[in-house]
Amino acid sequence: MMQSNVKLAFAGGGNMAQAMISGLVAHGCSAARLRVADPDSQKLQEIFHRFGVSIFEENRAAVSPANVVVLAVKPGLVPTVLEEISPVLAPDALVISIAAGVTLATLQRHLPAKQPVVRAMPNTPALVGEGITVMIPAATCDSAKAETARNVLESMGEVVEIDNESLMDGVTALSGSGPAYVYLMLEALSDGGVACGLPRTLADKLAVKTMLGSAKLVQESGKHPAILKNQVTSPAGTTIAALLELEKAGLRGTLMQAVMAAWQRSRQLGAS
Ligand SMILES: NC(=O)c1ccc[n+]([C@@H]2O[C@H](COP(=O)([O-])OP(=O)(O)OC[C@H]3O[C@@H](n4cnc5c(N)ncnc54)[C@H](OP(=O)(O)O)[C@@H]3O)[C@@H](O)[C@H]2O)c1
Repeated sequence: MMQSNVKLAFAGGGNMAQAMISGLVAHGCSAARLRVADPDSQKLQEIFHRFGVSIFEENRAAVSPANVVVLAVKPGLVPTVLEEISPVLAPDALVISIAAGVTLATLQRHLPAKQPVVRAMPNTPALVGEGITVMIPAATCDSAKAETARNVLESMGEVVEIDNESLMDGVTALSGSGPAYVYLMLEALSDGGVACGLPRTLADKLAVKTMLGSAKLVQESGKHPAILKNQVTSPAGTTIAALLELEKAGLRGTLMQAVMAAWQRSRQLGAS
């Protein structure tokens, strides 16, 4: 639950900002406490009609009275936006960046030295409140600021805090890029069903519910996936016949390599 004194401004009113606003409003945050800046006046109007929040075409106007500012612009724009808002930021306003790959050092380089800053990496299931966000507070944040950041980010789903920023490349590779791997698997599973003669709509539904339900069973049972896999694999049955094909094709190694390729790419992008 977000503290009642929080006045929150968003620089950027795109997909992720709207996911957060939607989650905050759904969790009882009054729209009167939320301010959004975006250069696109049509988008601002849509946001106003959807949520009733205050809208601004200038970042400075949105952030100056705020005590929490969320940077929800594309990563390349972050330095420009920080330079723009720095002169009007309250000295103790918490800045939360959700920009992929933008390090705490970069954020701090473009802000006053003592500004409390948090770097966060959400993922797109945030759009339906089922995201997972990993956050790391800068040394300028005390525990109350970190708690505020956590409360704000919980508008998108679950939040995990880490204290080693180098893990963010692995986070990007697993949960940040991960939804795309899952979509590819869902598409292929559904195609497999169609290849067996199922109508497409039925195949899509079965694939999605199987993925969702299996993940939920892992989460709620607390059992390792290998144990749950063994429980559905009867001797000489259908499942083991399918698993043999997946193992022959190297599915597990391929998925591991895919995550590591994204990790290496994230490290390259961070170093450039
Ligand atoms: N989507 C994801 O899966 C995901 C996951 C993790 C992190 N993120 C991060 O979240 C951030 C936002 O992503 P998104 O998907 O929400 O992008 P988005 O939909 O493009 O939103 C960015 C918004 O910022 C606006 N904007 C452009 N210049 C601006 C400026 N100078 N001041 C204020 N606003 C400005 C854009 O307007 P125009 O459209 O008119 O340019 C757009 O509405 C990115 O940094 C991204 O790395 C996204």
